[in-house]
Amino acid sequence: MDSFEFNKIAAAVLVTILVVIGINEIASELFHVEKPKQSAYKIEGVEVKAGAQTETAKEEEKLTLITPLLASASIDAGKNVFKKCAACHSVDKAGPNKIGPALWGVVNKKVGSHEGFKYSSTLQGYGKNWTFEELNGFLNQPMKYLKGTKMGFAGLRKDSDRANVIAYLNSLSDSPAPLK
Ligand code: HEC
Repeated sequence: MDSFEFNKIAAAVLVTILVVIGINEIASELFHVEKPKQSAYKIEGVEVKAGAQTETAKEEEKLTLITPLLASASIDAGKNVFKKCAACHSVDKAGPNKIGPALWGVVNKKVGSHEGFKYSSTLQGYGKNWTFEELNGFLNQPMKYLKGTKMGFAGLRKDSDRANVIAYLNSLSDSPAPLK
């Protein structure tokens, strides 16, 4: 092989290497995807972060019993918390169903039993009553507590918010259940 031919081969190899590197560079520029720093959507009251699954599972285990907190709960504060619910629920006696069922007299009533409301099959088939503790679990994380519910609400994660709003729900009755 003369040196001219050797140079030609060397040049060809070099060009090939440069082309391959070049294509790689361009490709990674073109197809580089920035990972978003934050999730694209955020639901009020719910923190979306890595490992959230396991954390909430732990939280669920230690969900505070609400009944002892009700003795010192405030109906007025609960009325205020209920502003988050009012778009979907009426509270008056014989109030109308809205996006959600009317809530007058809901405490200790059978789940999914308000006349004229079309419940999800989840609520329809649950079979229990809305005791204070059932309300506590549901209102903490509705869609987790009763998978398949169509109540599109993230939940009230503060014990005091749930205690107050449950005390308020309990007051929506001709004969409210005793709180202590
Ligand atoms: C975006 C609308 C929406 C909001 C906000 C909402 N709910 Fe609901 N709620 C619903 C719907 C819809 C259902 C029926 C769920 C089903 O059938 O699965 C429901 C069901 C319920 C039930 C069960 C009633 C029954 O008759 O079995 C209770 C109790 C309740 N909601 C309380 C609340 C409270 C308290 C809040 C606020 C902290 C709230 N909801 C916020 C839509 C909503």
